[in-house]
Amino acid sequence: MATNLFDLTGQTAVVIGGTGVLGGAMAQALAESGATVAILGRHAGRGAARVAEIAAAGGQAFFQMADSGDRESLLAARQAILARTGGVHSLVNAAGGNRPEATLPPGSDFCQLPQQAWRDVFDLNLVAGVLLPCQVFGETMLSQQQGSIINIASLSGILPLSRVVAYSAAKAAVINLTQFLAREWATRGIRVNAISPGFFPAEQNRPLLYEPDGVTPSARGKQIFSHTPMGRFGEKHELGGAVVWLASHRASSFVTGQNIVVDGGFTSVTI
Ligand SMILES: NC(=O)c1ccc[n+]([C@@H]2O[C@H](COP(=O)([O-])OP(=O)(O)OC[C@H]3O[C@@H](n4cnc5c(N)ncnc54)[C@H](OP(=O)(O)O)[C@@H]3O)[C@@H](O)[C@H]2O)c1
Repeated sequence: MATNLFDLTGQTAVVIGGTGVLGGAMAQALAESGATVAILGRHAGRGAARVAEIAAAGGQAFFQMADSGDRESLLAARQAILARTGGVHSLVNAAGGNRPEATLPPGSDFCQLPQQAWRDVFDLNLVAGVLLPCQVFGETMLSQQQGSIINIASLSGILPLSRVVAYSAAKAAVINLTQFLAREWATRGIRVNAISPGFFPAEQNRPLLYEPDGVTPSARGKQIFSHTPMGRFGEKHELGGAVVWLASHRASSFVTGQNIVVDGGFTSVTI
């Protein structure tokens, strides 16, 4: 029997959005703890690069093409993963993000927010991000009577940030759905939790956090530093501990319905 609470040897972790910045770092952490990681995404080239990175660090991973906004695509991915691994122990739902059209320009009016942009952000974060993956991989976990689901929400789902209103509302719904599923499946062997990252520079938010030179923090970036007790953005590897803890049944067996905030203290203070 493993003596390390965080040892995931012999387990399969599915990371949707593992081709991205934060999902990739979480996939890396799970692999470092011994899990075989199935990276799901829509771009084979990015998937192959992530698998190579994990292999180079001594971990085990494979890429499975899937569009998590399409149930048929997820069902096909599930079948391929199960044929290869025989089971799924944890699921990280890291597909998500904001859309520039859904961000209110400075000084602009909420009443002008385009409805289509709102829908797109909800489709990405709530439907492709959580709903469909939880339904498809939840079915597998229910039949196994075992599993840990980790939904990636955001601190903006707790405190609505200015301008990114659709994103904040969608992430609030992700936290609520996490709590619903935790209650629904608590006696059926499945734990459902969320991780809410604070500000971590990644592809989709770089233009908001930095000036066009990519190194000087933007006015918004500076505002964030001044409100963050640790005075900096997060680094992607700093999400690894939370995801491994929640994935490990031995380490977090009595933890469900929780939202673990990793934000350098941003949500713990007020002005
Ligand atoms: N960065 C931050 O500061 C921050 C803060 C709080 C929360 N978050 C959340 O953390 C998660 C990861 O964000 P990130 O910053 O790492 O963004 P990212 O680098 O853009 O990664 C998102 C990934 O999601 C995948 N994806 C999007 N739609 C998909 C779909 N329909 N099917 C399958 N995969 C899909 C994309 O993969 P493919 O394009 O390869 O399909 C992409 O690699 C998101 O939920 C985001 O909202 C980020």
